Amino acid sequence: MVSWITVCFLWWPGYLHHLWGRGAAMDLGPMCKSYRGDREAFEEAHLTSLDPMRQFAQESVQCPDIGEANIMCLAPCTREGKPSARMLPLKGFGKDGFCFFTNFEKLDSNPFASLVFYWEPLNRQVRVEGPVKKLPEEEAECYFPSRPKSSQIGAAVSHQSSVIPDQECLRNKNEELGQLYQDQEVPKPKYWGGYILHPQGMEFWQGQTNRLHDRIVLRRGLSVGDCPLGPMTHRGEEDWLYERLAP
Ligand SMILES: Cc1cc2nc3c(=O)[nH]c(=O)nc-3n(C[C@H](O)[C@H](O)[C@H](O)COP(=O)(O)O)c2cc1C
Repeated sequence: MVSWITVCFLWWPGYLHHLWGRGAAMDLGPMCKSYRGDREAFEEAHLTSLDPMRQFAQESVQCPDIGEANIMCLAPCTREGKPSARMLPLKGFGKDGFCFFTNFEKLDSNPFASLVFYWEPLNRQVRVEGPVKKLPEEEAECYFPSRPKSSQIGAAVSHQSSVIPDQECLRNKNEELGQLYQDQEVPKPKYWGGYILHPQGMEFWQGQTNRLHDRIVLRRGLSVGDCPLGPMTHRGEEDWLYERLAP
């Protein structure tokens, strides 16, 4: 009988050749790890709350092995629909939504975005989608001085995403502003502020080794009124509805 190793040995060079033919230099398939087994499936009964914000709060603190559970990928889009994703920290969340601070302007021209958290030790992903609003200037003014002074100076030094000649010019400006503000408060730059994303949809995903991943999606903002829901759609808290999606 031909063993599995023999099959791989005979088949793999052909697959690599195929990748090279497509211009791919490396096959990263073997990096895939095992996730959860079926016995550890993430079932609806395991939700600690049918309010996704509370579910998020509970999941985000349950595993100290997640280095920084608040680091997320934020994906805004230009008005023309061109997306650009980037990592940044979530600075707070509550009933109204998820808050973060930055100085980019894409969100002003297209006020919708999605956030993704990936908590590898739990094999879990949380996706959030919804409209984004600028936080009132007073909130940014209030939050800015609570950051470490070096970060405040860093924000004042860097007009984010503008082209600069080299790193040295940042060091020089950092030094200059460090001296200037040694004994006084750093004023918040005009271009630096906060945003809040108000979730309309949240998905809780858990990876299964056999790829039959768990996906529980909560959505709201639909005027379902009193009309009966389909058998696969359930009522959560407040105006949230939830469903299980195929992976
Ligand atoms: C761990 C981490 C934390 C970051 N924190 C922030 C942040 O708080 N605010 C921010 O604007 N960018 C932050 N960035 C940088 C952004 O990913 C990105 O480079 C920046 O928003 C500029 O993107 P843009 O030129 O497309 O606007 C962080 C990146 C990483 C990896």
